[in-house]
Amino acid sequence: MSIHNFAVTVAKKAGKLILEKSQKPLKIERKAPKDLVTNVDKAAEKLIIKEILGKYPNHGIIAEESMDKAMTPAELAKKKYIWIIDPIDGTTNFTHNLPLYAVSIGVFKLDDAEKSKNFEYLSGELVAGVVFAPALKELFSAEKGKGAFLNGTKIKVSKVKKASDCLSVTGFPPKHREMNLPFFHAMLKKSQAIRRLGAASLDLCYIACGRFDSYWEFGLKPWDIAAGALIIEEAGGTITDSFGNPLDLFGKDILATNGHLHKEIVNTFKKL
Ligand code: IPD
Ligand code: CA
Ligand code: CA
Repeated sequence: MSIHNFAVTVAKKAGKLILEKSQKPLKIERKAPKDLVTNVDKAAEKLIIKEILGKYPNHGIIAEESMDKAMTPAELAKKKYIWIIDPIDGTTNFTHNLPLYAVSIGVFKLDDAEKSKNFEYLSGELVAGVVFAPALKELFSAEKGKGAFLNGTKIKVSKVKKASDCLSVTGFPPKHREMNLPFFHAMLKKSQAIRRLGAASLDLCYIACGRFDSYWEFGLKPWDIAAGALIIEEAGGTITDSFGNPLDLFGKDILATNGHLHKEIVNTFKKL
């Protein structure tokens, strides 16, 4: 089984567990005043890591709820593949029984394990990505060079050419929410309309399948975007930092569009 197909299988298993466990009252904790985690996030992450290491014991793992016992940068740099995992992206939605949440699993292949000594500058590429929204029964996936799919059907970004016709989506980081306000204000004036879903991985996949045309956010983590970034690229979209520089998975801010709108929005952001 390919790495991509295995990632799909694991995401489906995690989604099943999430739906089952959500039938019982959730145990909700606060990692920070506005940043939640539940017993279900933890259980799903445990299952995902167990499955991955059961099949690929030598692969590296970066997972949101296990960062306290994470592999060190030096350890990760020696791996051939790193799995980047968000067991539930959209935990706040999940705790409110809003179905906009997803399991997100991205697989990053390091170029040359011997040379990549610094975790922050790992050179390589995303080779597989899966975003599974179990409550919505939607599974987005991509494998490098093979296109992007929603429930097995090939997807493409929209054809919208002008920001004035675009449906935008954004998010507000749990910390420093207000830093997005100037950008929000500018895009509110420019776009046809703006939405806020509360799950970065789905924001990205919804660009990939043409539901949205542009998405930007600050303060993200690699597990929010790894899978969705590959899905966007494979669907013909563009993803960079908010000023149009190449995407850095550890760089926190992103702009993703259908490609046609990218320059116009970068120019808008550069003027702020
Ligand atoms: C969050 C969601 C949200 C985004 C936050 C993320 P979580 O992830 O993706 O849309 O605005 O910045 O932290 O905490 O639900 O996994
Ligand atoms: Ca997340
Ligand atoms: Ca999460």
